Amino acid sequence: MAKTRPPSLTETTQMLVDSAAKMSFDIDRDIDWDGVFDETLMHLPEHRIALYGTELWDTLSREQKVEFSKYQTASMFTIGAWVETVFMQTLLREVYSADLTTSDAWHLYTEVGEECKHSTMFGRIVARIGRSDYQPPWWARQLGKLPGIWTPPLLALGVALFFEEYFDAIQRESATDEAVHPLTRQINQIHVVEESRHLKFARAELNELLSASPLERLLLALIYGPVIFVVLGFMVAPAAYEDAGLDPKAAAAVAKKNPYWRQTQRWASEQAMRTYARLGIRNIFGDTFCRLAGAL
Ligand SMILES: [Fe+2]
Ligand SMILES: [Fe+2]
Repeated sequence: MAKTRPPSLTETTQMLVDSAAKMSFDIDRDIDWDGVFDETLMHLPEHRIALYGTELWDTLSREQKVEFSKYQTASMFTIGAWVETVFMQTLLREVYSADLTTSDAWHLYTEVGEECKHSTMFGRIVARIGRSDYQPPWWARQLGKLPGIWTPPLLALGVALFFEEYFDAIQRESATDEAVHPLTRQINQIHVVEESRHLKFARAELNELLSASPLERLLLALIYGPVIFVVLGFMVAPAAYEDAGLDPKAAAAVAKKNPYWRQTQRWASEQAMRTYARLGIRNIFGDTFCRLAGAL
C-alpha cells in the first residue's frame, strides 16, 4: 500500500488559512463583555490555583479564594499577552522577507492578526478583573524587545510553542469547566480554537526545518530551560497575591512549594516537553531549569 506523505509546509499553511476563513472569532461580537458579572465565580478551575491545597488556602474564605483566582488569572493573561507580543515581533520580521503571493505569507499575517486580537481580549479582561499591573519586571520587558531586532525564526517558534502548549492545557480545561466565570470561559474558548492553528504551524515548521538548522537547534537546546524557568516564575505576579490581601513574599513561597501547583505546572508543560523530546533538543542543562521551574 502506498504510504501517504505528510503535507508540505506550503500545503499546511494553505490549510490553516482556509481554516481561519471558516472558524475565526470577532472579540466584540462573540464575547459578552457587558453581561452581568457574577462576583461569586472562580476564574480558574479551583485545583489550578497556585495556592490550592495548602494550609494557607484553607484559611481563606470563599470570597478571598474567588478574589485570588481573579488576580491570578489577570496575571496569567498579562503574561500571555506579553509572550504573544514578544513573539509577534519575530512573525512580522519573518513575513517581511516572505513572498507576499504565497500561503506562507498569508498564514503569517493571519497569525499576527489573531495574536493582536488575543492580546486585546486579554488586556480587556485584565482591565475588568485585575487591580494592579501584573507585567514582568523591567529587565525582562527590555529583553523582550530583542526579537524585534534579531532572533532566528525557528528559535522563537520553538520557545513560543512551549507557551502556546502551556496556555492551551490550562485554557482548554478552564473553557469547559462550568464552575468558571462565563466571561473567562468565552475568552479561553476563543483562544483554544485559534491557537490550535498556531500549534499546528509551529509543530509542522519545527518538524520539517529544525533538523536542517544546526545553529537554531543548538540555540533552542541551550535556552529552552532558562526561558521556561524565568517566564513560569512570572505567571503569578507578586501583585496578584497582594491584591488578594496576602503577603506576596510568604504566599509566593507557599505556592512554590505547593505540590498541587507544581503538578499543574508539570501537567501544562507535558505536551511541549514531549515535542522537545521528539525534536531531540532536550538535555540535562535545559531539563534542570525545567525541573526547578516545576515544568518537569
Ligand atoms: Fe494567542
Ligand atoms: Fe499563538
